[in-house]
Amino acid sequence: MDHLKSQLDTTISRLKASSNLKEIQDIKVSYLGKSGAITQEMRKLSDLPNDQKKDFATNLNILKTKLTDALDSASERVSKEEVEKKLRSESIDISLPTRDSKQGKVHLISHTMDEITEIFGNMGFGIEYGPEIEDDFHNFDALNIAPDHPARQLHDTFYMQNDGELLRTHTSTVQILTMSTSTPPFKFISPGRVYRCDSDQTHTPMFHQVEGVYIDHNIDMGHLKGCLKEFLYNFFEGQDIKIRFRPHFFPFTEPSAEVDISMGESGKWLEVLGCGMVHPNVLKQVDVDPSEYQGFAFGMGVERLAMLKHGISDLRTFFEGNVNWSEKHGIDFYRIPKIIWGLGK
Ligand code: DAH
Repeated sequence: MDHLKSQLDTTISRLKASSNLKEIQDIKVSYLGKSGAITQEMRKLSDLPNDQKKDFATNLNILKTKLTDALDSASERVSKEEVEKKLRSESIDISLPTRDSKQGKVHLISHTMDEITEIFGNMGFGIEYGPEIEDDFHNFDALNIAPDHPARQLHDTFYMQNDGELLRTHTSTVQILTMSTSTPPFKFISPGRVYRCDSDQTHTPMFHQVEGVYIDHNIDMGHLKGCLKEFLYNFFEGQDIKIRFRPHFFPFTEPSAEVDISMGESGKWLEVLGCGMVHPNVLKQVDVDPSEYQGFAFGMGVERLAMLKHGISDLRTFFEGNVNWSEKHGIDFYRIPKIIWGLGK
């Protein structure tokens, strides 16, 4: 018993220092298992004379309780430590920066359309869409383009096999569609794909346009100029640009103009969009009274604007699906359109 007592003191110190559940379990077995030290002492009890039995049993129980208490607290402490260790190793540091992932980018055309939409959206323009397969009426007739008018030939139209169907050559079709199916005032833009039978460095058979219309009781050329200048200054985000309105002809507007911009000190003017006051004949086609309502329309090429803003020289590269090109010119998902207001001079 005395030997057991002194051995137990060392064991309890070992338990206090242990950080290993297996070690604790082994100690438990070595004392309380079938052939453990305390179990064996217990067996001696029956051979003792009756008058010694009580003291022996009491002392042995004190030792046993001391040991089980030490075992319990050691295993509780070590289990807790192990859980904490596990939690620590599995924790996620949410303050770490994201990995530099190469998981794709937003195509420059989609991004440019978003930017254009956002700027006009901030000016109160809604969005309207129309079909890409159209007819002569929406693409030409209702827009005051007469059957024998050269503009019709200029558009190099793709005609469908079905009689009277064509791929729209411009988004001006949506003016007709929207205005004939609702009532004034109208204030919307219409982004989308258009098609022309043409292909070289500056033409592709499919490209993108954004049309715009603003019709109300007293919209005039001043509003047109203010609106488009505001758009261009914001679109080019502080780049040094000059803007000029140059008289032009479109069958669906009168007067009409083309807008050119000049970048930096280049002295070169580049056409970026067409615009004008909506022709009374167009308003009549959609049952809007031109003596009561008037306003402006404009149409711009999305690729042209993106090329100027980002210094891209060949239009065809937009549609080649070249991964390196997309990596270079694509926009990261988290770079939402960044619009700076108040840059107009
Ligand atoms: N539809 C013309 C084109 O494709 C662009 C255009 C010019 C649209 C003047 C307009 C406008 O609404 O007023 O070339």
